[in-house]
Amino acid sequence: MSDIRNIVILTGAGVSAESGLATFRGPDGLWEGHRVEDVCTPEALARNPDLVHAFYDARRAKLGEVQPNAAHHALARLDAEWPGELLIVTQNVDDLHERAGATRLLHMHGELKSALCAACGTRRRWEAPMGDRPPCPACGKPRLRPDIVFFGEMPYQMERIDAALGRCDLFVSIGTSGAVYPAAGFVRTARHYGAWALEMNLEPSAGSIYFSESRMGPASELVPAWVKEVLGDRLA
Ligand code: OAD
Repeated sequence: MSDIRNIVILTGAGVSAESGLATFRGPDGLWEGHRVEDVCTPEALARNPDLVHAFYDARRAKLGEVQPNAAHHALARLDAEWPGELLIVTQNVDDLHERAGATRLLHMHGELKSALCAACGTRRRWEAPMGDRPPCPACGKPRLRPDIVFFGEMPYQMERIDAALGRCDLFVSIGTSGAVYPAAGFVRTARHYGAWALEMNLEPSAGSIYFSESRMGPASELVPAWVKEVLGDRLA
C-alpha cells in the first residue's frame, strides 16, 4: 500500500448503523410500511407532502440522539493525517462524518440539516421541522423541502466525484449495498482508471465482484483496523 497517494472513500448507511441509524434495505429498512423509494421522490412530495415531511422531520430529529461511531472517527483521523488527496463521498444524509471531524467530505445525496426552497432555489442550514411549512427566510414562500436528492434527481457534485475517481489509486466502499446508482458504479470507474478497490461491508454488496478485495464485518471494527494499516504503512 505504500505506493498509494490518492484515496476516494464511498460511505453508505452501514457506516452509521452502529450509531443507531437504520439502514434503508435491512430488515428494519421500512418506514411505517413505506419503502424508501415511495417516500423519497418528487412525485411523493407533490402527492403527499405531509408524509414526506414527517419522514424527514423524524430522521432529522433522530440526529440529536446519536453519536459518531468508531468508523466515523477512524475516517476523520485518516482525513486529518493523510498527506495525499482524499475525498470522502457519503451517500448518507446524516452529519456523523463531520461531527467526527472529517472535512474532505461531500454529501452526494444531500443533507438532513439543509433546506432547499422549491420557490427560489436557496439552500441553507436548517435544523427545525418543515412539516408545519415554515416560510423560506429568503423569499417568504412556504415552499421549503428537505435538501435531499430524491429518486429521479441528480446527485450533487458529480463532476468533482468523477475527477477524484479518475485520479485515485485506492477506492474504498464502506457500508453500502450497491443498489443505488450512480454511486454503485463508482467502483467500475475507479478500476477503469487503475485503482485498487476495497469493499468493507457486513455482506457482499451487489457489485462485490468488481472489487479487488472484500472484507466482511461491522464497520466499527473493520474501518479502524484498515485506517491503522494505511497510516502505519506510510510511517514504515
Ligand atoms: P442500504 O441500506 O441499501 O445498504 C446498507 C449496507 O450496509 C448493507 O449492505 C448492509 O449489509 C451494510 N451494513 C449494515 N450494517 C453494517 C455495519 N455495522 N457495518 C458495515 N456494513 C453494514 O444503504 P445505502 O447503500 O447507503 O438515498 O443506500 C444507498 C441510498 O439508498 C441512500 O443514500 C438513500 C437510499 O435511497 C437517498 O436518500 C437519496
